[in-house]
Amino acid sequence: MTFKDPASYADLAQGRIKHILFRINVDFSARILEIESTYQMQEPVQGSLFLDSYRIDLKEARANGRALEWEFDEQDEVLGERLHLKGLNGASTFTLTFRTSPEARALQWLNANQTAGGTHPFLFSQCQAIHARSIFPCQDTPSVRFTYSAEVDVAQGLVAAMAAEQIGIDDGTGHGSVVFRFRMPQPIPSYLFALAAGNLDFRELGPRTGIYAEPEIIAAAAWEFAENETKIVEAEKLLGPYLWGRYDLLVLPPTFPYGGMENPRLTFLTPTAILGTRGQTSLITHELAHAWTGNLVTNATWQDFWLNEGWTTYAEQRITEVLEGKDVADLRAVFAEKQLIEVMELVGTDSPRTCLKLPAERDADSFTTIIPYFKGNFFLQECEYAVGRERFDAFIQTYMGSFQFQSLTTEAFIDFLKSELPEVFEKVNVHKWIYEPGLPAAEAWHRPQSHLYDEVQQALDNYQQGIKPTEEQVQGWHRIQIFSFLQGLPHKIPVEDCSYFEQILELEKRNDAGHYSFFYSRCVASGYQAAYPRIEQFLGKIGRMLYILPIVRAMIETEWSRDLVRPLFERVRDRHHQITVRALEVLLKKAGL
Ligand code: BES
Ligand code: ZN
Repeated sequence: MTFKDPASYADLAQGRIKHILFRINVDFSARILEIESTYQMQEPVQGSLFLDSYRIDLKEARANGRALEWEFDEQDEVLGERLHLKGLNGASTFTLTFRTSPEARALQWLNANQTAGGTHPFLFSQCQAIHARSIFPCQDTPSVRFTYSAEVDVAQGLVAAMAAEQIGIDDGTGHGSVVFRFRMPQPIPSYLFALAAGNLDFRELGPRTGIYAEPEIIAAAAWEFAENETKIVEAEKLLGPYLWGRYDLLVLPPTFPYGGMENPRLTFLTPTAILGTRGQTSLITHELAHAWTGNLVTNATWQDFWLNEGWTTYAEQRITEVLEGKDVADLRAVFAEKQLIEVMELVGTDSPRTCLKLPAERDADSFTTIIPYFKGNFFLQECEYAVGRERFDAFIQTYMGSFQFQSLTTEAFIDFLKSELPEVFEKVNVHKWIYEPGLPAAEAWHRPQSHLYDEVQQALDNYQQGIKPTEEQVQGWHRIQIFSFLQGLPHKIPVEDCSYFEQILELEKRNDAGHYSFFYSRCVASGYQAAYPRIEQFLGKIGRMLYILPIVRAMIETEWSRDLVRPLFERVRDRHHQITVRALEVLLKKAGL
């Protein structure tokens, strides 16, 4: 299997990292991590080793008791600097002593006033896709897996958490700090390395599930996700045994740039998932499913991202069908198709970015869209239709078993599909789904249908005829029906209708940032300027990109708000994670702002 990861400088012919031992000291005042890491390679390294790094301040490199020479290549804004370790001369272990930069891309350092409690600072990491290199030099490609152990030293009063097994706490350091010890015995790709520190409480939820959150929100969080154990049981039926030991959640401050991140054993989660209704637990289903599709069987490069996200969305959909019923699963599928079409139109239906196999690009983060998620899901559903659910389910288990703790390319997946389920190729145009842009013609696949969506469509059609839905009519609507309605509204509507819909849909009471994402985008396009102070507040507080990027896009596209975007961005940028800041910057620059 030969392939090259365009997002990494690693040269795997030089050898592969097998295990890393970390000693990490968290320095909140300087906003840096001081790290000593000892690397064990699969085999002795002759000569040089290239590692990915991003603004790492390397102090020392040693192997077999001698100092090693090193050199950093010129800085590249996207990929960072290639670290060239020299003269390893057959060493299979070496130790680096270094500091991260305050600009480390993976890390967000929060002031106390950005947390729920307001009394302690907070730190969290987000390594996917290519930011692990800003925490430690590594072969930052998902095709290399390593195990690790770590000691994390934090100031007294703070708790360190990692996406690993906690094996001990030592508060007798004698210098006012506490050391948390972890080990990760299952081999992981670098993007699944994860770390956080803050004023964290822990609650058990079930025999192998629990939740970390700030004390102010732990009770609400524990209630919201009390059913996690049931989810694991359902996921295991579909995907095979859960091989990671525990499954805990960590609720982060609201600037976390994603809904969730599937860090192994410890999903990192946005607090916007806590609704007080258990109405957004499909997000957990998604992150949990990644424990198999992504974490166990991993995309070899970010061009094969659909192998992670398409498979996970498919599994999420299947598990949702069991836990929330077919009606809800169908509603979600139709809504997904609408979103997919909208995003494809945004990037251009014949753009290579609408293919499942993505073009080779260095900036792995800049092409993250929902396309691999939903197009991937629909493709896998077609494969299921082709052979029937029973055979496809058996295939899923064989696939998980055959590739566990491995990374594979789209091409390796196709070969496997060919050998296991050759009939799929008679009924499904696999090549078209994977290598051609857009979607197959409507009659060439099983497009989803939903009577719950039809209800919304009826209300939207009536609105076009001048008849607004009544309060009673929308009373029992599912969360996704509300999304669908807000998304399906004409681009620009009268401002009084904006406030009417906010009221009858009870958006304030529901306090769901997902609703407000759709609602504010509509307000902006409709010129509902009275909502602007609330929009500004929203964009200053919430970092979940899926929710804020559409609002910013609407602001850029609308005349009255266009000139407000740059100054607003400058006011809030310091509060956001650098991943969010970069994504917003890309949007603004593209618009010439
Ligand atoms: N692994 C992704 C988040 C991610 C993607 C991080 C690409 C970095 C680069 C995670 O599993 C995810 O997909 N999160 C979604 C929620 C999901 C339910 C669609 C999100 O953050 O919105
Ligand atoms: Zn995902």
